[in-house]
Amino acid sequence: MSYKKNLSKVSIVMGSQSDYSTMKYTRDVLKILKIKHETKIVSAHRTPKRMYDFAKKAEKNNISVIIAGAGGSAHLPGMIAAITSIPVIGVPIESKKLKGLDSLLSIVQMPKGIPVGTVAIGRDGAINAALLAASIISTADLEVKKNLNLWRQKQSSAVKKKPK
Ligand code: RP5
Repeated sequence: MSYKKNLSKVSIVMGSQSDYSTMKYTRDVLKILKIKHETKIVSAHRTPKRMYDFAKKAEKNNISVIIAGAGGSAHLPGMIAAITSIPVIGVPIESKKLKGLDSLLSIVQMPKGIPVGTVAIGRDGAINAALLAASIISTADLEVKKNLNLWRQKQSSAVKKKPK
């Protein structure tokens, strides 16, 4: 395995401004892990051209992992994954009417051929998406690997041995 210096970049995209209250947790974790990132609103149905251009140029823009948050009929992660072979992690946003079950099923049930890694609904998924992106990147990036392992050690140390 040959490691490179921290050159990796994650793109956090979301279908709407309303998704940001969830996707900011992804950004927060990437910040802690010192992983370069960008945030964008890219809607598969409201801004299809923006979505296509984003996915088409992602590789040229040195994006290592794409994290896409979407709610309802959540086709954004799958559409992006259809355009680029960069790994895509889908975050199901908790929708008002169906509590995110619609988002989860839309993202997780990709037919064979175009995979989307799917995490849990809402905040937990947004946090895990960043950690999963870090794991993917850490296979080739020693700095990110160190930061991720440190974060996990801190998490373990914070768990008390006895309940109060
Ligand atoms: C999806 O529609 C977005 O990902 C969002 O979760 C959902 C609702 O969007 P808004 O009506 O709040 O803009 O495209």
